[in-house]
Amino acid sequence: MPVLAVIGAQWGDEGKGKVVDMLAERAKVVVRFSGGDNAGHTVINRYGKFGLHLVPCGIFYPETTCIIGNGVAINPATLLSEIDLLNNHGISTGNLFISDRANLIMPYHLLLDKLEEESRGDNAIGTTLRGIGPVYADKVARRGIRAGDLLDEKVFLERLKLILEYKNVVLTKVYGAAPLSLDDVYSQYCRYAERMVPHIRETTVMIDKAIQRNQPVLLEGAQGTLLDPDFGTYPYATSSSPLAGGASIGAGIGPTKIDAVLGVFKAYVTRVGAGPFPSELKDKVGDSIRERGHEFGTTTGRPRSCGWFDAVAARFSTRINGFNAAAITRLDILDGFPSVKICTGYRLGKDKLDDFPSRIDILEKCQPVYEELPGWKTPVGDVREFNHLPAEARQYVTRLEEFIDCPVNIISVGPSREQTIEVKPLVRHGFFP
Ligand code: GDP
Ligand code: IMO
Ligand code: MG
Repeated sequence: MPVLAVIGAQWGDEGKGKVVDMLAERAKVVVRFSGGDNAGHTVINRYGKFGLHLVPCGIFYPETTCIIGNGVAINPATLLSEIDLLNNHGISTGNLFISDRANLIMPYHLLLDKLEEESRGDNAIGTTLRGIGPVYADKVARRGIRAGDLLDEKVFLERLKLILEYKNVVLTKVYGAAPLSLDDVYSQYCRYAERMVPHIRETTVMIDKAIQRNQPVLLEGAQGTLLDPDFGTYPYATSSSPLAGGASIGAGIGPTKIDAVLGVFKAYVTRVGAGPFPSELKDKVGDSIRERGHEFGTTTGRPRSCGWFDAVAARFSTRINGFNAAAITRLDILDGFPSVKICTGYRLGKDKLDDFPSRIDILEKCQPVYEELPGWKTPVGDVREFNHLPAEARQYVTRLEEFIDCPVNIISVGPSREQTIEVKPLVRHGFFP
């Protein structure tokens, strides 16, 4: 039962794309299960550098079936331009399938994301403006349009008519914006449908078949645990679940079928958009991590806030997801710091908190308590074995492993596939020979 979920363990951009691209070599199926084109997953391999927003990072292996699962919200324009980009680089997308249950991002979702953000004023979430909040709100309000609706133009037209009537009331009466034309939206989405329909399937059957045959399946997470609408820094969160639990629903496989849950952690912490994180460094050290790490969003280009590794948040992430494997990425970015710090607890007035608080008004008041470790001078980018890392880097990773309470299987020391140290092979899960 080699099903492995790859989950962002922090606030997103942990390097999930790199890890999935690397592991996908052994996978028969790779499934994206949540989020939409708010995600930006960077893959650097022999085909070039790609920032994938919707297409699973297994697409570079022609033998691997790639599925955009029911839990994903699809902006057809983004998807089709991503397909074009891949095809122009000689990468086939004949192995790409779309769940008929996946919700579609419609033009009104994009408008409403912007209007809602503007109306929040100083409390804006800092969304990616990709329509994510509005599309998932419609999904649970049972007002969504799904990929399967595109299979029949009549069904699609009826559904769109009903929904657009309501959406135009919201746009005009609540926000004083212009209404959208049914004809325009309909014809635009019919054009998208022409190209999307050949990829649309009942994908849960495809995944189940692979599981029955004992073929390795990868579940590719988007965003990160602390952006989860239940367990993240609500309301500064996204709108679909990036968690291991979300993988089960968003891919359409039972939780008992998920064999391993791999948490992807950066060796430090970043966050893009609004919302607190206690170990944020608003000083030269934070600037230096941002510059060395080129910490700017893959999707929006916004600068990411940077800070030391937060072990309180990391432990919480391990608990909520049930991680039984972990990857530490971007260890190389910490090369050359005289010392490195780990936030081991939060001070709140006279109290010390060991658990991640559920309320952001409390999180905002938390002061980090740090453990300081010696840094390393020798660059780690060319290291391929744990024992060849500088002693201080080994000590740092070992300490992280103790804090996150989960074995570290993979250490990433650079953005390319090869810049990887396989510490504890994922043999049991069929992902390493
Ligand atoms: P994702 O959203 O989790 O897939 O992560 P992003 O792609 O948004 O951001 C991660 C960034 O780190 C990308 O630019 C990757 O190419 C890069 N990256 C991944 N692993 C490493 C690593 O170990 N070292 C360095 N220097 N860069 C890495
Ligand atoms: P990947 O998959 C980092 C953040 C946004 C914002 C909040 C809500 O690349 O790790 P949304 O547009 O989802 O309504 O925005 O969530 N966010 C991400 N941050 N990485 C991501 O994805 C993100 N997807 C959303 O910046 O703070
Ligand atoms: Mg990203």
